[in-house]
Amino acid sequence: MDENTPVQNTNPREACLKLMNTLLASLTVFERNVKILHWNYQSADFVSVHPWLDDVHDDVCECIDTVAEEIRKGDFFPNATLAGCVEVSSIQQLDSAVVYSHDATFRELLNGLNSIRGIADTLSTMADENKFWTIQDMANDILKRMNHHTYFVKNTLTGTTED
Ligand SMILES: [Fe+2]
Repeated sequence: MDENTPVQNTNPREACLKLMNTLLASLTVFERNVKILHWNYQSADFVSVHPWLDDVHDDVCECIDTVAEEIRKGDFFPNATLAGCVEVSSIQQLDSAVVYSHDATFRELLNGLNSIRGIADTLSTMADENKFWTIQDMANDILKRMNHHTYFVKNTLTGTTED
């Protein structure tokens, strides 16, 4: 069974919490990956992509803070250590000791964004079914932000030689 699939016969609030922690972990690993891409990007359009990656990074950091605080509002604790995040994340850590080309960078971004959008979408549905409106709003906001970045990434990948 996929880790994002709601477990039957589980307390809905606990199921939401578990998924919020998966979202938090994935955002945290993605945050690090975006910084690695920001630092190790190497292409002719470095001057525009390098600062844009910091915009994405800042947005991901805001999402991390929102999810962790929403978990605390429920009087639970965020699974926020780096080791804990790496263990639970749906996204793999990137190697920080290599250079990333234009295509490699945007493909890694797309993989990460798709993974986070999938978790946020599942969380939104689960929260809706259980009338957890604040959690649903949060999930939808993250989805909206990640959809925005995905639009830019997909348009950038269109027309690259590897497609
Ligand atoms: Fe920088």
